Amino acid sequence: MNLSLTGKKAVVTGGGRGLCRSIAQAYLDAGAEVVIVGSSARTEEAAKEMASHHRPAAAVIGDLSEPECIPEIYAECLRILGGRIDILVNGAGSQFRCPAETFPYEQWERILKLNLSAAFRMSQLAGRDMLAQGCGRIINIASMTSFFGSEQIPAYSASKGGIAQLTKALSNEWAKRGVLVNAIAPGYMKTSLTETIKTTNPSQYEQITQRIPAGRWGTGEDLQGISLLLASDAASYITGAVIPVDGGYLGK
Ligand SMILES: NC(=O)c1ccc[n+]([C@@H]2O[C@H](COP(=O)([O-])OP(=O)(O)OC[C@H]3O[C@@H](n4cnc5c(N)ncnc54)[C@H](O)[C@@H]3O)[C@@H](O)[C@H]2O)c1
Repeated sequence: MNLSLTGKKAVVTGGGRGLCRSIAQAYLDAGAEVVIVGSSARTEEAAKEMASHHRPAAAVIGDLSEPECIPEIYAECLRILGGRIDILVNGAGSQFRCPAETFPYEQWERILKLNLSAAFRMSQLAGRDMLAQGCGRIINIASMTSFFGSEQIPAYSASKGGIAQLTKALSNEWAKRGVLVNAIAPGYMKTSLTETIKTTNPSQYEQITQRIPAGRWGTGEDLQGISLLLASDAASYITGAVIPVDGGYLGK
């Protein structure tokens, strides 16, 4: 079984922090050349920190929620990688919490643009290059809300439901031509996206923890194995899958 990524070139959006930083790190450790994309200057620092332990990592800073910026962001990633891309992880994401009846429309649009439309556009651009070279891997970051709707995050839930279906739709079109498309659906993970729940709503935090069969929230490290597998030659017959990494949450 070959899990090495030596010689592979990867773009990880959202790779500057949180879950996708762990994924980008796993790819670097497995021998890939990695470019991370993020919206803040912190992304560059993150690339330097990651690179200091292993091989070079590069950063591209840009706003993926602005559709007109995406071709430029992708072109810059490709330039850094010398004109080839083997792996794309669509991980950049955000959420906004508010009851549906007062949910601000501009937040709906922002979240759909970042979580869903940017993943489509990046996949389309990378997909063209991968199809031309006859191989490639696209890994989308889905969520538990790809399987069920969660209260007070209607835009996030809709975007992640969309990510699951986009994964299958692209896989159906591209798998025969060597481009495999899968999604990882993390459960409740400890990151900046979720850290406020513990302080603002301790009883909800406790309820969630009780419901997780593994008895704890997940971490970025918990996603490294599956991310590596899906990007590697060992996963050449896995496509169109939305794979939960949730400590058993969905099974309960
Ligand atoms: N934390 C969880 O419990 C959890 C659960 C399921 C799915 N996810 C998903 O995992 C992914 C990563 O989440 P996280 O918890 O690590 O969040 P995070 O907030 O720590 O990281 C989000 C990343 O997205 C990038 N980003 C945000 N807005 C951007 C923009 N406009 N343009 C470019 N990049 C932008 C940020 O720079 C950052 O690197 C997201 O897609 C999220 O929906 C998280």
